[in-house]
Amino acid sequence: MTSVAGKRIVLGVSGGIAAYKAVEICRRLMDSGAHVIPVLTKGATRFVGRATFDALASEPVQMSLFDEDDPIPHTTLGQTADCVLVAPATARVIGAYAAGISSDLLTATLIATRAPVVICPAMHTEMWEHPAVADNIATLVKRGVSIVGPESGRLAGGDEGAGRLSSPADIVAAVDRVLDSTGRRLDMAGLSVVVTAGGTREPIDPVRYIGNRSSGKQGYAFAEEAAARGAKVTIITTVDRPGPLGTTVVSGITVVRVNTAEEMAAATAEAAKEADVVIMAAAVADFRPVDPAGVKIKKRDGVPAIQLEPTPDILAGLGASKPEGQILVGFAAETCEVADNAAAKLSGKGADYIVANDVAAENVGFAYDTNEVTVLASDGRVRPVGMRSKRQVAQAVLDLVMGDRDASEENQ
Ligand code: CTP
Repeated sequence: MTSVAGKRIVLGVSGGIAAYKAVEICRRLMDSGAHVIPVLTKGATRFVGRATFDALASEPVQMSLFDEDDPIPHTTLGQTADCVLVAPATARVIGAYAAGISSDLLTATLIATRAPVVICPAMHTEMWEHPAVADNIATLVKRGVSIVGPESGRLAGGDEGAGRLSSPADIVAAVDRVLDSTGRRLDMAGLSVVVTAGGTREPIDPVRYIGNRSSGKQGYAFAEEAAARGAKVTIITTVDRPGPLGTTVVSGITVVRVNTAEEMAAATAEAAKEADVVIMAAAVADFRPVDPAGVKIKKRDGVPAIQLEPTPDILAGLGASKPEGQILVGFAAETCEVADNAAAKLSGKGADYIVANDVAAENVGFAYDTNEVTVLASDGRVRPVGMRSKRQVAQAVLDLVMGDRDASEENQ
């Protein structure tokens, strides 16, 4: 926990029963060396007293937009914060922030800041699942706000369900991660990166297709990691950004939607012309129906004999026409003889790196949030990357790729 040290963190506390946990969050942030400025809503003070935060935090509690010492406290707070954390965030605060309404000091600060914002919702399950709240959360995620939780568990009044505030330890760790990624060296600034994601869909008829279990999570993790490091990123994908809302979306990624291998091949070839790095994380179908039916195949006509043909191998095509200096990263999804199969793909497809994983293993590959990979480089190096989140896998692979790139530039 190093990134929060020395950082100015506005700790927004709104009115829910979980407000008492904000005391523990405040203490943990202080213990990690952060400068904590508590901003409470009127509702929050119904659950926890100002005096508690006054005693624990770096500065006294602020609550009012009309401070006698500072005529514009929200702008001062917003401009000087390194991060604004709201824990717990009620449906009201989330709604106001999503709608751009500043009805008190906390919501005004949220709108006045350019610093990263971490929102930790806590409310009853019925409220959390209400479409209005879900829409507001989706809006915030799209704008690059980090949402942490909520978790499922015991709620006020003895109910059980989704809506419980995440643990103070998880919340402080999330703030640390956010500050880590924003403070990181922008080592990919000025680079153009193309990432493919998801499994392609090869139509059998207008309603059916041949697909696979790829979720697109690893591809999106690469896109977001590269963008966070300053790259201009295009993701060519068959799926929307998957997964729970609990991770940071980096805005500014160009999303190109495709369905089939052929569409992905065309979009990737075009985007790759100008790219410095191409990452083929997509699970491209290897076969497609030769002649998809124009109308839905009817059951009464019996089991159809579907004739298949190979799809274009996008990675091999890119490898064969790779511009000078471009770095090409492929994947190998294997269920046996991982190292040998991956090595064959590395040389056979003309890639600079192959990220290999055993998709038959537990918590690895398709649809999981975690992955465990081995990176093979074209010069024979083999780098295992142990079990970690897909974002951390992306980080480790890009660390390796960028390290090699820097070293080869120094040698020239
Ligand atoms: N790939 C591709 N075009 C295809 C098939 C795969 O570009 N038609 C790419 C994938 O995006 C991945 C790499 O090739 O980066 C390896 O994909 P994988 O599915 O592991 O292997 P295949 O080449 O399809 O071979 P096999 O299915 O026989 O293992």
